[in-house]
Amino acid sequence: DWTMSAYREQMIEKIRKQVGKGRVLCALSGGVDSAVAAVLIHEAIGDQLTCVFVDHGLMRQDEGNQVVSLFREHFNIPLVSVDAADLFIGKLEGVSDPETKRKIIGGLFIDVFDAEAKKIASDGKGAPEFLAQGTLYPDVIESVSFSGGPSVTIKSHHNVGGLPARMNMKLVEPLRELFKDEVRALGRELGLPDSFVGRHPFPGPGLAIRLPGGVTREKLDILRKADAIYLDEIRKAGLYDTIWQAFAVLLPVQTVGVMGDGRTYDSVLALRAVTSVDGMTADFYPYDMNFLGRAATRIINEVKGINRVVYDVTSKPPGTIEWE
Ligand code: XMP
Repeated sequence: DWTMSAYREQMIEKIRKQVGKGRVLCALSGGVDSAVAAVLIHEAIGDQLTCVFVDHGLMRQDEGNQVVSLFREHFNIPLVSVDAADLFIGKLEGVSDPETKRKIIGGLFIDVFDAEAKKIASDGKGAPEFLAQGTLYPDVIESVSFSGGPSVTIKSHHNVGGLPARMNMKLVEPLRELFKDEVRALGRELGLPDSFVGRHPFPGPGLAIRLPGGVTREKLDILRKADAIYLDEIRKAGLYDTIWQAFAVLLPVQTVGVMGDGRTYDSVLALRAVTSVDGMTADFYPYDMNFLGRAATRIINEVKGINRVVYDVTSKPPGTIEWE
């Protein structure tokens, strides 16, 4: 008789057994998975856990602040927050290959995290030997094989591998057997707010892989604004929970438009929305055209730099959910 509260107790026991009196570091990504893992581990071992939030400057609007306040104020979990936006954006400028972007982000993430880990290790409470990650079951499979086929890495998800190998730490991965919907149920069970737990999945490399071409601060600002308006319209239409993942992609393409008496030559924004059970396969979401028209009008009126909006009607496979 399997229930989430029984699973929670079981995992807490397992974590205590694995960790003993050791210290655990947890890298918070700002997303649901690492947050649920951290809260669960905190229940198990209390202040033997220290969380590190590396803000890479590639988050959606307000997301970074929300995580920091949730952990510090709501849960009272020790959290070190590092603002590394300049470092990440600087290294990404001019890089357009998707896998190279991921490697740069993954590598910098390890550097920044490693530096923080060293500071924490010298605080007199002993060096952490464990590293906690919010790895889910689909992350485990998708980084090894694709649709039961040969062992091919489709995308190098940076939340799997890399970090532990270089840091020589033992892994604590309490969500490794769970699918996304189960992680959400566990998060609710642990008292995480619905609005947080119900958040759409967000990739580790963040908005960098939603900007085909090089990353710049200016493009990030445009994308962040457009994405926030799109999500606001989705919430207003009552569609947020029906959709698995929705986001905007700022294309490196400029087209001609008219605005008032003038001609514009601005960027195209693509909107994406899919339904899915686990992210492994997905269907594009069949919006009502009125909804799309409303979202497009608002984005073009409110975001300087965008003068055309298109909707992506590709399912997975053959497309992936992200564009990069
Ligand atoms: P794709 O685009 O491969 O995405 O269909 C499947 C799910 O994985 C997310 N995704 C990532 N998550 N690092 C992550 O942590 C990544 O590099 C990455 N690439 C894709 C994507 O948002 C979707 O939920």
